[in-house]
Amino acid sequence: MLENISRVLLTEEQIQTRVKELAAQLSAEYAGKNPIFVGVLKGVVMFYADFLKYFTEHCQMDFMWISSYAGTVSTGKAIVKQDVSQDIRGRHVVILEDIFDTGNSLQFTYNHLLAKEPASLKICTLLDKPERRVPGITVKADYTGFVIPNEFVVGYGLDFNEQYRNLPFVGVLSPEAYEK
Ligand code: IMP
Ligand code: MG
Repeated sequence: MLENISRVLLTEEQIQTRVKELAAQLSAEYAGKNPIFVGVLKGVVMFYADFLKYFTEHCQMDFMWISSYAGTVSTGKAIVKQDVSQDIRGRHVVILEDIFDTGNSLQFTYNHLLAKEPASLKICTLLDKPERRVPGITVKADYTGFVIPNEFVVGYGLDFNEQYRNLPFVGVLSPEAYEK
């Protein structure tokens, strides 16, 4: 599996340290608000589980599954494969995402959840690739783990064709792997 990883971008230790910081920040800001953390499947799974373990206040879990990607190319379109399981109207909601790339997925997810009239809606993304943003994206990340360069990364939940999600670190996928 490691033969297609050209370099480690974020070590397991760097990720854990930053996820703890984010969780501490949100624990302070959301104390007493019983927020709902909506994880966008499947890429967010590792980040979601670690973040929730470090979040020290009452909160609830929920998930959305949207589909917008094939391989490394964004299609710009998304569909809801699985919606949140509870009524979020009047609740404090935080979207947890693995990566803010073109922005299409987060824009879609944000608009979809905003229509359900939560009391507040914020975005927390582990990774942000600002160089990749496309025109027309109005959402911004309220909380960001790491800003990263414009390279295709895998690991810690992120995949290439469903592979590499189980790496405990974030690595850069070597371009030769795309052709295989
Ligand atoms: P966006 O809609 O282009 O912002 O992309 C969002 C989704 O695309 C993420 O939730 C990931 O699943 C996937 N994605 C974007 N960039 C990468 C990457 O570098 N590696 C793996 N998946 C990515
Ligand atoms: Mg993906």
